[in-house]
Amino acid sequence: MDNFDVAVIGSGPGGYVAAIRCAQLGMKTAIIEKYSTLGGTCLNVGCIPSKALLDSSEHFHNAAHNFAEHGIEINAPQVDLNKMIERKQKVVDQTCDGVKFLMDKNKITVFEGLGSFVDDHTLAIQKKDGEEKISAKNIIIATGSKPTELPFAKFDKERIISSTEALKLPEVPKHLVVIGAGIIGLELGSVYARLGAEVTVVEYLDRAIPTFDGAMSKEITKSLKKLGLKFNFSHKVSDVSRDGEKVIITATNKKDEEVKIEGDYCLVAVGRSAYTEGLGLDKVALKTDERGKIAVNDQLQTEKSHIYAIGDVIKGAMLAHKAEEEGVFVAESLAGQKPHIDYDLIPGVVYTWPEVASVGKTEEQLKEAKVAYKSGSFPFRALGRARASGDIDGLVKILADKETDEILGFHVIGPRAADLVAEGVVAMEYRASAEDIARMSHAHPTFAEAIKEAALAATENRALHV
Ligand code: FAD
Ligand code: NAI
Repeated sequence: MDNFDVAVIGSGPGGYVAAIRCAQLGMKTAIIEKYSTLGGTCLNVGCIPSKALLDSSEHFHNAAHNFAEHGIEINAPQVDLNKMIERKQKVVDQTCDGVKFLMDKNKITVFEGLGSFVDDHTLAIQKKDGEEKISAKNIIIATGSKPTELPFAKFDKERIISSTEALKLPEVPKHLVVIGAGIIGLELGSVYARLGAEVTVVEYLDRAIPTFDGAMSKEITKSLKKLGLKFNFSHKVSDVSRDGEKVIITATNKKDEEVKIEGDYCLVAVGRSAYTEGLGLDKVALKTDERGKIAVNDQLQTEKSHIYAIGDVIKGAMLAHKAEEEGVFVAESLAGQKPHIDYDLIPGVVYTWPEVASVGKTEEQLKEAKVAYKSGSFPFRALGRARASGDIDGLVKILADKETDEILGFHVIGPRAADLVAEGVVAMEYRASAEDIARMSHAHPTFAEAIKEAALAATENRALHV
């Protein structure tokens, strides 16, 4: 039986990054993945394929709707969905191959098969050609998550679908009904709306992307309505049923009235659940909490101090970069270092157009915590760079401590928000004040100038260009 310093179960961004860092730090490392491709949800059916389709559909949308304004006349463009999905798959394959390359480069032993606990230090790997056992001094569980199913809307993977199927539909839906106005609902809803589908979103709460700052929810709803998405907020879905090629969604609205919505596809995007099936946690006396997550302490150790858990399978944001940070954290802890993660400074991004990106506290959180704050905003439409490109929707909003001026929240909706938020993360990691940003030179003309202007607005209400 092979013996390792560390065995990682799961090869998503949490697991594969943990394995690389362990190997870099001199540990003999193994990684176990039940699928034949590495990279987990993120690379195979999450971040990468969704962004590939978002980019392709955005090109189509611009060609169909925005080129003319720039003086470019073309015949009405046509969608070749099969080709778009083939391209997406190529991007996925290349990215997954890249992870395999990194495993080989770092001399990490890769096992393909379902990993499960035999005892505290032994794992069984169920491979295509039989079972193999390995032992490890330390074990990292990075088994991720899967789409949450509603009890009355079981995925048939044909018309009642999760994000996984929505990334490879055989046709552009005529009418896609999306349950959940969260990140997946808005991103994949945007993809198909851009490709010509009618898209109706049904959301339980009273706003979209409810974990983001309220101003972001308001703005993105406005922008996506322009794209053609219809929103039904404060709707409690009670049934989803099939009638041939039709899917009928039954919900109750705020006035307690029953609403029926008929579509040809229904994407259920109501969150994701931790994945621990087949892991044999009982063999090591580890339990999951009431939400199915593996409990860890602030060192990411389970009740067994040599068994760690990271990423989507534990508490916190279900984001690839959060999982990666945790992978590095565990590897460095095992090497005797003293790493640190500031969970408040993990940015969140929605890759719609305009994009939404945030880090730190929302205005609602500051109000609830009774923190005295000031707020400065700047609209992209007042920016030369945004007018030049034609991307005038959105704003930057900076929340700073009323007394000290320290930035507490950084929220962007607009062009390149996903990249712009990095400035907020750096500023907040170094505990910058709004005035610090306001006094830094920002190249002209750039989208980033909106950040300087919002910081000026937060500092003394002295934005220059509004
Ligand atoms: P995962 O990526 O889920 O990987 C877990 C791996 O473990 C899987 O490969 C699984 O097969 C394997 N596994 C499970 N059990 C076993 C076992 N017993 N033995 C062997 N292998 C096992 N996040 C972002 O930050 N940015 C985005 O843009 C983004 N877009 C997304 C889009 C979509 C459509 C979805 C669904 C998710 C998206 N996410 C995004 C979330 C992101 O994918 C997850 O947060 C991230 O993948 C979590 O990483 P992880 O390593 O914890 O788990
Ligand atoms: P989500 O948590 O973002 O949104 C789910 C939405 O569904 C919420 O608005 C919630 O109020 C609503 N909802 C829950 N139950 C409902 C019901 N019964 N009826 C109607 N609405 C209901 O979850 P989502 O969109 O499924 O994504 C899962 C996770 O994947 C995200 O939270 C995120 O962590 C990750 N992800 C990240 C992306 C990114 O970083 N860009 C992209 C896609 C996913």
